[in-house]
Amino acid sequence: MNRVLQHTGAQFPIIQAPMGWIARSQLASAVSNAGAMGIIETSSGETENCIKEIEKMWELTSNPFGINLPLLFLRDENIIDFVTNSGVKFVTTSAGSPSKLLDRLKSKDIIVYHAVPTVKAAMKAVEAGVDGLVVEGAEGGGFKNPEEVSTLVLLQAIREQTDVPMIAAGGICDGRGMAAAFALGAEGVQMGTRFVSSQESPVHQNFKNAIISSEEAGTWVLNKKSTPCIRALKSERTKEIHEAGLMPPDTFKSIQDLYFGGDMEASVALAGQSAGLIEDVKPVAQIIEETVAGFHAIAGRMGKLGEAQAF
Ligand SMILES: Cc1cc2nc3c(=O)[nH]c(=O)nc-3n(C[C@H](O)[C@H](O)[C@H](O)COP(=O)(O)O)c2cc1C
Repeated sequence: MNRVLQHTGAQFPIIQAPMGWIARSQLASAVSNAGAMGIIETSSGETENCIKEIEKMWELTSNPFGINLPLLFLRDENIIDFVTNSGVKFVTTSAGSPSKLLDRLKSKDIIVYHAVPTVKAAMKAVEAGVDGLVVEGAEGGGFKNPEEVSTLVLLQAIREQTDVPMIAAGGICDGRGMAAAFALGAEGVQMGTRFVSSQESPVHQNFKNAIISSEEAGTWVLNKKSTPCIRALKSERTKEIHEAGLMPPDTFKSIQDLYFGGDMEASVALAGQSAGLIEDVKPVAQIIEETVAGFHAIAGRMGKLGEAQAF
């Protein structure tokens, strides 16, 4: 039995990534209603709005959904209290040590997966007692570890050290990527860039179009010598940051003008290398259906290859 399915209660082991302001009820309910796992963000820091979005989810779907808690950025105790008492049974934590919050979450029987970019971080989280890991390779969009270990290597390196369930994140946008991740030991996949460019994603069409027209080399890893290190689409704005080597501290101030106003130079458009594989805006249900069908087709082909023992 697939442990990620046991833990999430969803029909498919596909998780929609937490994304500040974007991973709210419009997108997350579409994902949950299509049988995958919608996640509501709290990284925007807008506690009241995030609580409202979680409450809306109970109306918009009867399927399971989860919440992300970015530990380093949680300034408001209210959101932690709300989440632990909300009835939600699946939480992903990121950015920081899970040990501080784990007892509170586990006392309410909440399943906790912690997002990790290295083996060291993975083993710390396992020692702290998490139920599973979101293994985040450097191909992905958003905040990144400047050491840039790929999903391909990271999944294998972590599997060498521990048997906890892994959800692979970074560079996956369809059944091919999902099958590859499962071959390396993952039991689930998390997709960010693919869902930002879905029909139900709340972002401006300009952002979706920028992902669709991007090539595989269409992103930069920026601000490697400071924090946060991020992966974002190439643009005039990100070219400046790339050349300067540092990101001005106010860069995220106008991120909503980019996300929802469509001004692609207002800030940085967080996105992963999979932007180069994404060709169309599609409804969430179609993305999930095609990903599952693609996964099964490839898994079947691989099974036949193994049976034939032709080499
Ligand atoms: C637009 C965008 C915003 C993101 N914002 C967050 C965030 O607020 N918190 C977080 O933990 N991860 C964030 N991420 C990272 C995702 O959770 C996920 O790990 C990543 O998107 C996976 O790689 P992929 O983009 O190749 O699917 C963001 C990613 C994108 C594309």
